[in-house]
Amino acid sequence: MTNYIHIYEVGPRDGLQNEATHVPTEQKLRLIEGLVAAGLPTIEATSFVHPKAVPQMADADEVMASVTGNYAGDRVSFVGLVLNEKGYDRALAAGARRMAYGIAVSETFSQRNTRMSTAEAFAIGQRLAARARADGIWFRVYLMTAWVCPFEGPVNQRKALAYARRVWDLGIDELALSDTIGHADPLRVGQLVEQTARHTGMENLAVHLHDTQVLGLANATAALSAGVRIFDSSVGGLGGCPFAPGAAGNLATEDLVFLAYKMGLGTGVDFNRLWDVVELAEQMVQRPIGGRIRDWWEAHADEEPQIAML
Ligand code: COA
Ligand code: ZN
Repeated sequence: MTNYIHIYEVGPRDGLQNEATHVPTEQKLRLIEGLVAAGLPTIEATSFVHPKAVPQMADADEVMASVTGNYAGDRVSFVGLVLNEKGYDRALAAGARRMAYGIAVSETFSQRNTRMSTAEAFAIGQRLAARARADGIWFRVYLMTAWVCPFEGPVNQRKALAYARRVWDLGIDELALSDTIGHADPLRVGQLVEQTARHTGMENLAVHLHDTQVLGLANATAALSAGVRIFDSSVGGLGGCPFAPGAAGNLATEDLVFLAYKMGLGTGVDFNRLWDVVELAEQMVQRPIGGRIRDWWEAHADEEPQIAML
């Protein structure tokens, strides 16, 4: 098992999609620039969804075209979220080489989020995965509401496992088990990860956590102990889904980087530069943000000099 954690930064997408304050394209590009400078290896830059459904993502085409042009050749990858064929077409036209798609376990959430049944979501997923293979696009699928649904409550874990296997069998590159509203618990996170990995292989499995009930780090630790090395997080703990009532921010990138540091695991992230991005994001959304480590860090940073490059 490797001692490196791959952070999949979702701040510009999951982070901003729920923000009331409209963030201009040029500011989103500055946020991404900061994340690249801080060393985040993978950044979900935007989502190609309906601009009326998520106005904050209406500039997806421009954001993706800019970042793929600006950082060509850099050691960073950008992902665009697509939820249907039209989104895929737009992402491809904007130059995306990596895409993510979502399928929910919960029927109600699927309908509320994308106006599709889970069966329809699987059918579209199958077509998109096939197109991605033909186009040479790296393709991730989120298994949304893997543990708890905002409408249906706790999700049957046998069903979640069965869906996770089916998603993997679409022929994809990465599966992200997702705690869409941040109501999962460490025990069930560890169990589902372990069981899913028997089918997918641990190296292809990511977890996408939210920190709604302050269990983000506990859930991450459970997944880490089970062997997961790919974690989604968002700078400053920005985030939430407009179609998932009660979803608070994603697990904060700075909390995850700090956890890795304490455990002696590398992330490649420059902690000091990451703080610059937290501040930038804070100015953008015009409200206080920051993971749980922020207060401690601001008071004690000088006591941990070795932390700068993690
Ligand atoms: N981008 C832009 N326009 C889109 C689009 C996309 N990805 N998908 C559909 N449209 C347009 C169609 O072209 C069509 O336009 P027309 O009426 O002018 O012909 C119209 O929207 C309706 O198309 P339809 O296929 O019926 O889509 P829909 O209205 O059922 O929308 C989704 C489906 C998934 C695109 C929409 O529900 C959505 O964007 N949801 C957002 C979900 C989300 O972002 N959740 C948070 C992240 S998980
Ligand atoms: Zn999320």
